[in-house]
Amino acid sequence: MIGVKISGVGSAKPKNSVSNDDLSKVVDTSDTWILTRTGIKSRYISDGETTTSLAVRAAKKALADANITADMLDMIIVATLTPDQLMPSAACLVQKELGANNATAFDISAACSGFIFASKIARDAIRTGSNKKVLVIGVEILSKILNWKDRNTCVLFGDGAGAVVYESSAEDNILNIYTGSDGSRGSVLTLDGFPINNCLVEKEPNDYFLKMNGSEVYKFATSIVPICIENVLKGTNIEIQDIDHIVLHQANIRILDTVTTKIGLVKGDLFENLSEYGNTSAASIPIALDEAKVDFKKGEKVLLVGFGGGLTWGSILLEW
Ligand code: COA
Repeated sequence: MIGVKISGVGSAKPKNSVSNDDLSKVVDTSDTWILTRTGIKSRYISDGETTTSLAVRAAKKALADANITADMLDMIIVATLTPDQLMPSAACLVQKELGANNATAFDISAACSGFIFASKIARDAIRTGSNKKVLVIGVEILSKILNWKDRNTCVLFGDGAGAVVYESSAEDNILNIYTGSDGSRGSVLTLDGFPINNCLVEKEPNDYFLKMNGSEVYKFATSIVPICIENVLKGTNIEIQDIDHIVLHQANIRILDTVTTKIGLVKGDLFENLSEYGNTSAASIPIALDEAKVDFKKGEKVLLVGFGGGLTWGSILLEW
């Protein structure tokens, strides 16, 4: 079997960090409410930077980390809810900016699990033997799909991008990937698309804002993460105690803390940077991986877990 490894990681964020106090001037909220309910202190918000430009900045760092040039890429997959355009895709816009002329480029939509789903496609594409180097980017400018009058949602999210280069390799470092989805429960976290509005039917356009039933999403998140961990370890001879680093989708500190207790870890065992970024959806895991990797040593076991709209979920077990 053809092995697959991560050869490069990079991330990028907009220059503006917006604090909870800053937000309390925009909506009826407070630093205390946000911090105690979510653990979020600030988030990065674009004042003009696009999904493409943020993705390209993260991608360039990942390519440099992998020590390869863009023309060596066989595939670019962008996971995002917030492309600059629906056509061309975010991946094609990134391809153009990078000059990745030999790549097949496309987007996928799996909300906060998008990076995990795209990584599975990348791994499988390399294993077939027809691709050697695949760039996966998770990127969001969520600030453009938030209702800035809705304090239930606008305080929770932020903008950012993370990128990973997967390469064929003699060693197989991607030990297992588990994914799942349940469309029947999708109504708890939604973002509407275009309604049918044509020469036969007249309809008001949608508002294009993210909408969420916070308590239902919370229940889903805290129940699905242990399942993701159990399923990605199944069939390997690795147990939770053997894992050196766990990077969960950065949604809420209370989700991290509840999961910590449920899987028998101690507080602080899970990587955390949501206090600085908020929830950046598809970008959250690759940004967290980029920041967490400074503590990783070769051969250590790393677990990545994502969950989000769809509903979708997934996990990756890898050896660094
Ligand atoms: N500032 C102040 N008050 C706020 C607020 C804000 N930003 N947002 C909501 N409130 C108010 C509500 O209006 C409500 O008031 P009411 O009781 O008078 O109607 C109250 O706070 C709700 O508080 P509470 O029930 O304590 O909230 P919570 O503990 O359920 O926390 C979330 C809310 C959203 C933080 C929590 O449900 C959550 O984390 N859900 C998961 C969200 C998530 O991670 N989504 C993405 C997954 S990929």
